[in-house]
Amino acid sequence: MTDLAPGTETLRERAVTSLVTARDRTTLLTECVDEPDLTAQHSPLMSPLVWDLAHIGNQEEQWLLRAVAGQEALRPEIDSLYDAFEHPRAERPRLPLLPPDEARRYAAEVRGRALDVLESAAFDGTRLTEAGFAFGMIAQHEQQHDETMLITHQLRKGPQALTAPDPDPVPLFAGPSEVLVPGGPFTMGTSTEPWALDNERPAHVREVAPFWIDTTPVTNAAYLAFVEDGGYRDPRWWTPEGWAHIRRNSITAPLFWRLDGGQWLRRRFGLTEVVPPDEPVLHVCWYEADAYARWAGRRLPTEAEWEKAARYDPAGDRSMRYPWGDADPGPEHANLGQRHLRPAPAGSYPAGASPLGVRQLIGDVWEWTASDFLPYPGFQAFPYREYSEVFFGSDYKVLRGGSFAVDPVACRGTFRNWDYPIRRQIFSGFRTARSEDV
Ligand code: AVJ
Ligand code: FE
Repeated sequence: MTDLAPGTETLRERAVTSLVTARDRTTLLTECVDEPDLTAQHSPLMSPLVWDLAHIGNQEEQWLLRAVAGQEALRPEIDSLYDAFEHPRAERPRLPLLPPDEARRYAAEVRGRALDVLESAAFDGTRLTEAGFAFGMIAQHEQQHDETMLITHQLRKGPQALTAPDPDPVPLFAGPSEVLVPGGPFTMGTSTEPWALDNERPAHVREVAPFWIDTTPVTNAAYLAFVEDGGYRDPRWWTPEGWAHIRRNSITAPLFWRLDGGQWLRRRFGLTEVVPPDEPVLHVCWYEADAYARWAGRRLPTEAEWEKAARYDPAGDRSMRYPWGDADPGPEHANLGQRHLRPAPAGSYPAGASPLGVRQLIGDVWEWTASDFLPYPGFQAFPYREYSEVFFGSDYKVLRGGSFAVDPVACRGTFRNWDYPIRRQIFSGFRTARSEDV
């Protein structure tokens, strides 16, 4: 392996930066609305924002102050309130949660102590502290909740609370619509990425048959052709479960879309706008992605196909950290980190393309894959079963690549996300594939 592993002091600095970046984002997401908005439940699918805020602090306290540094619990009585498994989201607004100011003070107190711990923590010795894993895990955890909080903002009624500049316009993508990924073995997952989470491990060899994959995510214009061709009225395109689901819930277009005098509009963070044709489609569930692909004479890529398209470098015959190579993501590579509050047009970020020319695999929209969320051979739950292991099985489908709402610290070529096939409040889209001989 080349020298990919940064030294201890580099990782320590990266941990500080990642924690600070996450807290800046959390602060922005929780200070742009008033107190009633922080404690309200904007959707039964989501927690009140003030729950996320104290849960972020509580996880940090449990892992960095108690597990790493051996400190006593600051407020042992609140642990159960912020245990995601004890209380489903729909119940959380009725819990005796810390009010916003107390939640802020608690998270800030934990953070002050965590930065003290980080200054002198050993970055070796135990698996938890090796390469600063616990600090990287907690920065990722906060950023994951920052994406969750952004979803809550999208579901929230009322005027716009957040703003960000739009991505730069690009010329209409003129490259080939699909590329052929060669068959053969490739390395999936990682054993060397210091802050990769348990479900991304270990690295292992996968055999993949040759397949074609879309060069860009499916756009609103392409998806609209499916809608206007009666795609939501024809059971041929849907799995039986998907068809039952869209009929029962009268689903006829992506979430947040509305037909107005012959024009499709969408609501995005409190604004209503015309659906932009060249942008990757957003807020579709797995059933919709799967149905579109069947209508188009194609299919969703498997998770292994997606990762091979995103990481495999045919010239070097190896898997890279990202489509563009091993460098950490920069603004020229991908739309990440809530810099923009929408996906960038299809064909953006040529510098982030894979060696075969596949674009926007990282950032913009989470991409549904055909695959169930399953452990890799040799998987070991770490550091707690409730991060991944309890979700393995056929209830959840894997999403890959990250969205505009994900921070680079929580997004890698190996990163795995998962959700129920009915979910579409998440920042989800997809691209399609086909086997070589089809
Ligand atoms: C990996 C996004 C499915 O939000 O449920 C946050 C991440 N785990 N706190 C989730 C997570 C614990 C998780 N996802
Ligand atoms: Fe959490």
